[in-house]
Amino acid sequence: MAVNQEKLDALVGRLITEISAGYGGVMVALGDKLGLYKAMAGVGPLSSQELARRSGCAERYVREWLNSQVAGGYVDYHKLSRTYELSPEQEAVLADELSPVFLPYAWQIVASMWADEAKTLAAFQSGKGVSWGEHDERLFCGIAAFYRNAYSASLIETWLPMLDGVTAKLEKGATVADVGCGHGHSTVLMAKAFPESRFWGFDTHGESIDIARRVAKAAGVEDRVQFEIAKADGYERRGYDLVCFFDCLHDMGRPIEAARYASSAMAEGGTLMLIEPFAGDRVEENINPIGRLYYAGSTTMCCAHAISENGTHVLGAQVGPKQLEALLETAGFGSVRRAGSTPFNLIIEARQ
Ligand SMILES: C[S@@+](CC[C@H](N)C(=O)[O-])C[C@H]1O[C@@H](n2cnc3c(N)ncnc32)[C@H](O)[C@@H]1O
Repeated sequence: MAVNQEKLDALVGRLITEISAGYGGVMVALGDKLGLYKAMAGVGPLSSQELARRSGCAERYVREWLNSQVAGGYVDYHKLSRTYELSPEQEAVLADELSPVFLPYAWQIVASMWADEAKTLAAFQSGKGVSWGEHDERLFCGIAAFYRNAYSASLIETWLPMLDGVTAKLEKGATVADVGCGHGHSTVLMAKAFPESRFWGFDTHGESIDIARRVAKAAGVEDRVQFEIAKADGYERRGYDLVCFFDCLHDMGRPIEAARYASSAMAEGGTLMLIEPFAGDRVEENINPIGRLYYAGSTTMCCAHAISENGTHVLGAQVGPKQLEALLETAGFGSVRRAGSTPFNLIIEARQ
């Protein structure tokens, strides 16, 4: 078939734009780690010399970095004064760690995917898994920090109130399990919001559990939050009022077992809250930038981890609500419903 020049040009143009964004990702990580964005935040126009002084970096590097930012639309440039400035929107996305749209950490996930390329190549050829803990460490911090902001923007104010009667129980004093808790930001957020309740976080990755303990201590909630190394079907059953799975059920090789175990670990009338990456039920519903991002992460992390567990399922991160709901029903939950969704997440409630 003859090549359509117009389509070819469009595809090449698209790839060049995206390769340019890949270069830009390295610049974002530098700007974040060197404090360049933060040094620009809220201070108006700056010369490269001023930014170098404020950040303690070498001016020639800073100037070239600034120009890369201007070319990417991440920093504004005033050509008459040759100064550089962060707009309030650029500040929210690049400089303000607490903003729900702060994104630099997402590039740490990409960095880890590149660092793990050899493992992924080998896994494709052997069909074997790569467990969560085998990845480059930038993955754990990247995932934790990327999701932390979404959780702090939505978990307490929006997601928990979507569940039937759960917020009222937490206010009075409830017991909560956060399964596959990673660095424990979700656990600690809930502990801060509900001082009458007690929380347990479980994860198989020991280094994440160490960090989760430090996160709880730094937040001053370590008296009510405990983190333990445990599998999703092996933690102590304490009669939890709420069992949460934040972005991890699809990573598990035995998700039905994990959900069944959660049910057996709950108090009567307990609730399971399942937070999963947003997805439609069919591939054709996921052809968009979010689907692309999740399918890619799913290839190298989620499927790779589930395969490493040698279980019954390799769901991947784009499994979609229907399969997730069916899985919870198979695990024995009598009432399963989609409580809500955001562009990044599905929120599913299951009750016995
Ligand atoms: C994508 S991370 C999500 C971490 C955290 N919930 C968050 O939202 O930031 C998936 C987590 O699930 C954990 N995990 C995977 N399989 C597990 C299993 N079978 N039992 C317990 N934890 C598991 C991993 O170690 C990892 O910390």
